Formats: sequence, structure tokens, C-alpha cells
Amino acid sequence: MATSTERRVLRYLPEQRLVHWLGVASVLTLLVTGLALLWGPLSFLAWGGVSTLLHRGAALLFVALPVAYFVLNRTKGQELLKEIVTYNREDWEWLKGFPAYFLGRTTHLPKQGRLNAGQKLHHLGTFLAFIAVTVSGLLLWFAKGQLGGAGLAATAAVHDVAMLAVTILIIGHVYFTFVYGALPSMTTGYVSEEYARLEHARWLEEVGADSPASDAAGAPQSVTGD
Ligand code: HEM
Repeated sequence: MATSTERRVLRYLPEQRLVHWLGVASVLTLLVTGLALLWGPLSFLAWGGVSTLLHRGAALLFVALPVAYFVLNRTKGQELLKEIVTYNREDWEWLKGFPAYFLGRTTHLPKQGRLNAGQKLHHLGTFLAFIAVTVSGLLLWFAKGQLGGAGLAATAAVHDVAMLAVTILIIGHVYFTFVYGALPSMTTGYVSEEYARLEHARWLEEVGADSPASDAAGAPQSVTGD
């Protein structure tokens, strides 16, 4: 918890946080309504067709969100896409130390940029699963009649496996959020300087540079604490 004199670093802009939390709402709605459609014991949640409607509504939101991210802030969208496919030697070293990171230790790890290697892989996995869920979901919605028996089964399998992958990724994502106390970055938009040094030391060095560009990207600021 930041004290009143502790310096904080801006990490996420309001539009990034808005898209993130709408994403959480849509994914959770898709999961619950999807399970109600798929799994007999949960069919009581289907509420006479309401869950199908909710599933499709949440799917539209889900598909629209990456577009919204780019429309609201193209620079941040491009930055995210570039980062999740760019890995350097320090990232591989970081991944070798992942077992200890999993248990909450970072002291042995190389300095990381805005995203650590684990976050890069998580976000990349989420993005790939997003594409698989979306394409298979659109086929199931609009082209069911043309798929044939085998095509329909294969498309449904891709849809379900990709959603299972999203679920596993979310569990890991939420686990690390709480192990490292990262939640304030997505609620207030700020993290403590101490957290930034522990998790993203190279990023802190970069945004700490006293230039107008780093101000826009999130230069350290003295802000009265939480
Ligand atoms: C209750 C559930 C969730 C919590 C508590 C949570 C928490 C967070 C936090 C704290 C961050 C910022 C980490 C940092 O400092 O970089 C973050 C980023 C992110 N989360 Fe989540 N998250 C949740 C669900 C999800 C879901 C469902 C998805 C997508 C399927 C998702 C995708 C992402 C992505 C892509 C980022 C990076 C955003 C960016 O760089 O612009 N999260 N999340």
C-alpha cells in the first residue's frame, strides 16, 4: 500500500482500463452463458433462451473491444501488439527463473520492460485464443448450416478448446495480479515506484527519463497516496 509521500508511476490510461474491464465483463458473461449452453448440469442457467441472447451480446462486445482499444488510443494498441511478439535475451533468462517468480520471488530475475516475459506470453496467448474464439464463434453463429456434420463438430471443438485456453490464462493472470499486488494499475491506473522497480525496472528507467515523451507514457510522479 502506497504511503502519502510515496511516488507513483502512471501505468494505464483511463481508456485502457475501460477496455480491460469491459473485456473482463464480456469474457465472464461468455463463460457462464457458454457453460449453460454446453453442459447439462448447468442448463438451468439457460433461462429459456436468455443465455443465448446474452452470449451473443457479450460476443459482440468481446469482438468490438480490440477495435475500441485501437480507436481510443492507437499508439497504445500498437505498443501492446509489438511488445507481445518481441522477446530478447533477458526475457528468456526471466522465463528460466519463472518457477521462483511463480512463488513470489523476483530478486534473481533480470530487469524487465513495461511487460515482463510472462505477461508478454499471457497477452499473446490471449490474443491468439481471441482470434480462434472469434472466428469459430462467427462460423457457429452465421454459417452453421453450411459447415456439415464434421465441420460443425470441428468448429465447436476449436471454439470450446480456445475458450478453455482463455480460462486457464485468466486463472494465471488473476493469480499473479494478487501475488504481486498489481491490481491498482488497472483500478487507479498507477503503481507504486517500488512495485515498478521490482517488476518492471527497465521500464521505470525509461519512463523516468525527464522528457515530454516519457510524461505522456507515464513518467514517475509524486502523487498523494491511496
Ligand atoms: C477479474 C479478472 C482480472 C483481473 C483482476 C485482471 C487484472 C489485470 C491487471 C492488474 C493488469 C495490469 C498488469 C500490469 O501492470 O501490466 C491487467 C492487464 C491485462 N489484462 Fe487483465 N485482469 C482480469 C481479467 C482479464 C481478462 C478476462 C482478460 C482477457 C481475456 C485480461 C487481459 C489483460 C490484458 C491483455 C492486459 C494488458 C493490457 C494492456 O497492456 O493494455 N484480463 N489485468
